[in-house]
Amino acid sequence: MRFTRRAAIAAVGVAALLSAAACGGGDGGGSSTKDVEVFTWWADGGEKAGLDGLVAQFGTACADYTFVNGAVAGGAGANAKQVLASRLQQNDPPDTFQAHAGAELSDYIKAGQVEDLSAQYGEWGLNNAFPKGLIDNLTVDGKIYSVPANIHRANVLWSNKTVLTQAGITKDPASLAEFFTTLDALKAKGVATPLALGKDWTQLMLLETVLISDLGPDKFTGLWNGSTDWAGADVTKAIDDFTKLLGYTNKDRDSLDWTDAEKLVMDGKAAYQLMGDWEAADLDTKGFKDYGYAVFPGNGDTFQWLADSFVLPKNAKNPDGTKCWLKTVGSAEGQKAFNTKKGSIPARTDANPGDYPQYQQTAIADWKTAQQVPSCAHGSACSQGFQGAANSALGKFSSDLDTAALQKALATAASQFAKTN
Ligand code: GAL
Repeated sequence: MRFTRRAAIAAVGVAALLSAAACGGGDGGGSSTKDVEVFTWWADGGEKAGLDGLVAQFGTACADYTFVNGAVAGGAGANAKQVLASRLQQNDPPDTFQAHAGAELSDYIKAGQVEDLSAQYGEWGLNNAFPKGLIDNLTVDGKIYSVPANIHRANVLWSNKTVLTQAGITKDPASLAEFFTTLDALKAKGVATPLALGKDWTQLMLLETVLISDLGPDKFTGLWNGSTDWAGADVTKAIDDFTKLLGYTNKDRDSLDWTDAEKLVMDGKAAYQLMGDWEAADLDTKGFKDYGYAVFPGNGDTFQWLADSFVLPKNAKNPDGTKCWLKTVGSAEGQKAFNTKKGSIPARTDANPGDYPQYQQTAIADWKTAQQVPSCAHGSACSQGFQGAANSALGKFSSDLDTAALQKALATAASQFAKTN
């Protein structure tokens, strides 16, 4: 049923985009368009605010071109990625699209769907603008294919401060054991949903953070490069802890996007939510000030990172306009306009932390010292094939709670897809 509904959403999205392209194409002359269609899933709230910041800077730096918003709503690109896949298959790419640095980007590179930007890196002085580790994640066979807009942190626990205070919770839980005690206390005080949760990919995020706590950062990273066995007893233990956590979540989790789960926290119906730091921007945009944040219990100083980047697709209609967009994305001004509004930190190393809201100032400091691990739910750790398999295994697990089946499905996905990293 889930698949059918998603496929329907994607089909509607494709139809809408195709007809928009047909209407907007206008003169049919074809070659010299000013339009630059930017394809993202940043349609609302803090995500849209970030995009708007970047668009404003594009308007200043690239006045010859016109931004065309190709956003398809749905957290983590749940709908957008399906629409994009159809368009790429039909050789109808947008002028640029967002892709996560790491394995997800490698999918597009290996499929020959994106252009080499190495020359532009030289021309725009980008080779030394980003951290080397990030550049490595954007590079395949010595060529670099996208421009990073940011670094997001995935392993953040958000909370409603008033709900915690009323339940007598005065400190952030530092371990999974402390977290369970805290969740029990919230339950005992009558908090309906101690931990708010959404559908498949948000469940994958939660499982990943539990794996970081139970395996530690090095073994966790090994899950994605083949050096840690998905069939191991430590993974079973993590799935058991994850199952226990599900017991504190809202029953309707499988039908909620991340913003719906976030609303439970804003409305005081839930105490906590595990989510990436786009939540900071979204809460700010929605005017909700009563929130706290902490690293997920047991993750220590691990920074689970992901990066949004933009590409020049093969056969884009307006490559010159796209290059102006990409140059803006990589510029100091573009990164500031975007990241101050998006909850993320700049990928560039020359930013001034003082320009950023308080949350990002702590993230900028943590990024410099923390141990970095990648995210599968957001493409830095695993390919889209692995991600899809993990998401559907979690969707199934959410209703049958069959630990052995989940572990087996993840191990199978790893043997099928892990080598792509
Ligand atoms: C991630 C993306 C973020 C944010 C989030 C929620 O995949 O990298 O920028 O948009 O999804 O939709």
